[in-house]
Formats: sequence, C-alpha cells, structure tokens
Amino acid sequence: MRGAIIAHSQKRLQLPGEISEEAFRGIKELVCDESGIDLGSYKDGCIKRRISVRVRVSRSRTADEYLLKLKRDDKELKKLLKALTINVTEFFRNPPTFNKVRDVVIPIILAEKIKTDDHVFKAWSVGCSSGEEPYSIAILLKDLLVNEYRKFSSSIVATDVDEEMLDKGCAALYDEGQLKNVEPHLKEKYFSREDDDKYRVVKSVRRVVTFKKKNLLEDNGYENQDIIFCRNILIYFSRNLQEEILLDLARALKKGGFLVLGKAETLTAGSRKLFEAICPTERIYRKIS
Ligand SMILES: C[S@@+](CC[C@H](N)C(=O)[O-])C[C@H]1O[C@@H](n2cnc3c(N)ncnc32)[C@H](O)[C@@H]1O
Repeated sequence: MRGAIIAHSQKRLQLPGEISEEAFRGIKELVCDESGIDLGSYKDGCIKRRISVRVRVSRSRTADEYLLKLKRDDKELKKLLKALTINVTEFFRNPPTFNKVRDVVIPIILAEKIKTDDHVFKAWSVGCSSGEEPYSIAILLKDLLVNEYRKFSSSIVATDVDEEMLDKGCAALYDEGQLKNVEPHLKEKYFSREDDDKYRVVKSVRRVVTFKKKNLLEDNGYENQDIIFCRNILIYFSRNLQEEILLDLARALKKGGFLVLGKAETLTAGSRKLFEAICPTERIYRKIS
C-alpha cells in the first residue's frame, strides 16, 4: 500500500501538450510499424510539437489517451503521418533560387555537356512532396532547351516517402494558389486550365518526371545526377543524420554536379569539404570531387 502511494505520488501530473516518454515511445513504434517511417531519426522537438497538435485537435486529454486512439483509428493515424511529414510546397518556391539555377547553374551544366557530348540532363528532386518542385525544374529546362539546345533532353526523378503526395504529383492537377510564383508566360505555355479553376501540367512536362517512393534515409542507388534539389527536409533531421544524407547525395551527384538546399539549410562540417559554395545565399553548392 505504502509502495503504491509512493508510486502514485511519483507519477507527475502531465501538463497540457506534454508527452510522456512512454506515450512518445508507443507512438513512434506504432508509426514505424504502420508506415515504415522511423521517427527515431527525426528531431524529437519537431516530432513532439506535431504530436501535441494532433493530441489537442483530436480532443484527446493526454498523449497516452491519444496513443490508444491511434491504435484503433486508421484515419487519425493517417492525419498524424500527414502532420509529421509536412508537405508544404509550391511551384518555384523561393523564386530567387530558381533564377540562380536558370542563369548560373544550367549554363555551366550545358557548357560541360556540350564538351562531353552528353545530351541528357539528369535532375533529382528529393522529398518532392506533391510534385511542384520537380515540375518547376522540368519547366525551367523545357523553356531553356530550345533552338541550339533542342537536342538536349531531361530526365527528372522525384522521390518522397509519402505515397499520397506522390499520387498527387502523378495527377499533376493544382489549385491556382500553388502557381502564384509561375511567370505568366510559363503558366500559359506549360499548364492547361481545367474545371474548378484547377491547372494541369502539360503532358510534355509530365513526361520527363518520374515519381518514386523512396526514403532518403535508405540507400538511394542513384548516380551521375547533374543537379539534386534537397530542400526543406534536412531541417527535420539531427545534425548527424543530415551529414549522412549529404554524403549520400554527394555520391549520387556526378563530379561537378550541383546541390540545392532549402534556405534554412546548410552543409555539415563533414560534407563541406566535398563541395564549393556557388551561391551561399541561395544554398547552391557544387561537388568538387
Ligand atoms: C516541406 S516538404 C518539401 C517539398 C519540396 N522539397 C519543397 O521544398 O518545396 C518535405 C517533404 O519531405 C518528405 N519527407 C520527409 N521525410 C522523408 C524521408 N525520410 N524520405 C523522403 N522524403 C521525406 C515529406 O513527405 C515532404 O513531402
């Protein structure tokens, strides 16, 4: 009895939004079993904040109660996965980055390709969400590879862990708000207006983008890429994992290939020696060796 009282008094009351270690472990295990996503790799703070929001929105009183809900409610599990993977994106996100890629990076890559008689432009969009990023790259290239460059073609691979987002990417149908950074002449040329004020990416652009489910924490198997966009994902991982990911991306790039990170992301100490900064403000780097 005395032991029970002590145990009881030692169990601290949970503050609103607080997640017990037990519930946190349970949620991580459930998510991993059901989706294969290992939350152990992501920053605890990021994950806990998002779980807390779902605890509140689902009207669970505590994270422990929320875990019980998750075990019997598939829809809530889906909502949690959505909240954890955060799919925010848009066409030509951070336009100055795309301008630098268009005006500085692509001409360098093209000059190399002309020298080596290589006519395929290979790009990889890592964590492509619903496809706006890889289609932006495809549009940029399509618009540049004309006249004397028309013998060049592009091949863009777009990967993400979230299947629902990949399906959206394949459908290529977007609300007008997603297109707010698309220049009018590009919108006119590369989108068709559909019912309900939606816009579909034209077939000639869709054709060059291949969507694939891929966890960036697993071996990627890609090589010889001219340019890799890995934007707004690294921030969710610990510095150690960021380093592993960056080394992996370096392996997937050809020598002299380019890496574009998100505005809030940068190289880690160990990966810095593999790259030179081409435009540090836009987080554009070039593989040295
Ligand atoms: C904020 S979005 C970034 C989309 C796009 N790169 C951009 O900057 O607009 C982050 C994407 O990373 C994906 N993601 C998160 N963890 C991942 C992982 N381990 N492997 C692959 N993709 C992941 C999410 O599903 C989400 O679609």
